[in-house]
Amino acid sequence: MSERGEAIVLIGFMGAGKSSVGRELVKRTGLPLYDTDRMVAARVGMPIAEIFASYGEEEFRDCEAAALAQVAERPAIVVTGGGLVLRTANVEAIRRLGSVINLVASEEALFERVSRRGTRPLLQTSDPRGTLSELLRKREPLYRAAADFTIDTTNLTHAAVAEAVLRGVAEMHQHVG
Ligand code: S3P
Repeated sequence: MSERGEAIVLIGFMGAGKSSVGRELVKRTGLPLYDTDRMVAARVGMPIAEIFASYGEEEFRDCEAAALAQVAERPAIVVTGGGLVLRTANVEAIRRLGSVINLVASEEALFERVSRRGTRPLLQTSDPRGTLSELLRKREPLYRAAADFTIDTTNLTHAAVAEAVLRGVAEMHQHVG
């Protein structure tokens, strides 16, 4: 197996809780936070939705991959955008960075959470619920294949998910070490 770093990388669908749990993990560990969406928005100088509208999804994906390449190989909390796993090279990169945790939730919970803020460009369709369903079906296997373990966040607080992440990572290290 190739070398794995000490970062904690959160992956999963939009609304799975990656950003909120990432913030909880920072509070608990004191580690620095890398958030690929924020890095892309800062680099381009506009919100993600505008990047999609102005340049399209492929350009966004290129910026996302470039942002990931800027994440230092060091202990850190890394929050990723929901589509990061679409590129194999990104998956290899996050697995090199450290432990990869897949946050999941029921489809109903995901839809309810993403509906609170209408900022997800991929869901700006005539049938957002159907689009979510379809994207989820295509992506679920990618998240599972990329992750070391999965946590169902449907009925958990962000704090409880963060605790579960840290327990899971500690267990992984016990088994390896
Ligand atoms: C995307 C998810 C978003 C953001 C972009 C594309 C996706 O991040 O990267 O809108 O393809 O699933 P969140 O998962 O943080 O919403």
